[in-house]
Amino acid sequence: MNSHALITPENGLTFFFFERLFELNQLSKFDCSVAEYNEYLKIDALRSQKDHIAFTLLLREKETNRIIAYMSLIADAIKLSVTEKSLHLLDYPFKTIPAMKVAKLATNSEFQEKYKGIGSFMIYSACAMARECNKKYMACRFLTVDADVEHNASVLDFYKKNGFLVNEELYNKNRKTISMRKDIYS
Ligand SMILES: CC(C)(COP(=O)(O)OP(=O)(O)OC[C@H]1O[C@@H](n2cnc3c(N)ncnc32)[C@H](O)[C@@H]1OP(=O)(O)O)[C@@H](O)C(=O)NCCC(=O)NCCS
Repeated sequence: MNSHALITPENGLTFFFFERLFELNQLSKFDCSVAEYNEYLKIDALRSQKDHIAFTLLLREKETNRIIAYMSLIADAIKLSVTEKSLHLLDYPFKTIPAMKVAKLATNSEFQEKYKGIGSFMIYSACAMARECNKKYMACRFLTVDADVEHNASVLDFYKKNGFLVNEELYNKNRKTISMRKDIYS
């Protein structure tokens, strides 16, 4: 019998809250089962934040304060082909469109059985943050990601299920990552 809680955009913030990464965070227990992503959070994320290279948000469980997931967000811009621009009804003479990139995303494996939908909730939340940015500060049409197919080829499916498309302009089958985009306004 499945006893996990399904996390959705509607209920996510009743279970969890977001916190900006800062010096005193206890990160040692976070384990997403990919060493590179664990090390990034524990070793590099704070330095990148201080240098304004990446902004990291932790998703914490209200009940225990444990870290359930993290994501690092950065400013981005993507080049779209003529076909891609017409798909998004972007009738402009230039190729480059503003975006926000999910530079890192990982969920804590320890909570895999307790919750489903955490990764999707992080994507939903990144979109919501990008929309807020559009209301107050600057334009940003897409959420982008370099899907890390080196560690897990099927991760592409996770992003596709969350509304991402593969970018034609940057597509290269032999790369370790695949450039993808999600239209924040579709
Ligand atoms: C990738 C990751 C963030 C997904 O988080 P998650 O909480 O498992 O995702 P969700 O529960 O929201 O999954 C949504 C859907 O995508 C599917 N999915 C999730 N991860 C998947 C994967 N690696 N491969 C294929 N499908 C996947 C789920 O089965 C689910 O499908 P369903 O709606 O049909 O049931 C998480 O597995 C992770 O942290 N992986 C290690 C680090 C990593 O690879 N990060 C991405 C780097 S680009």
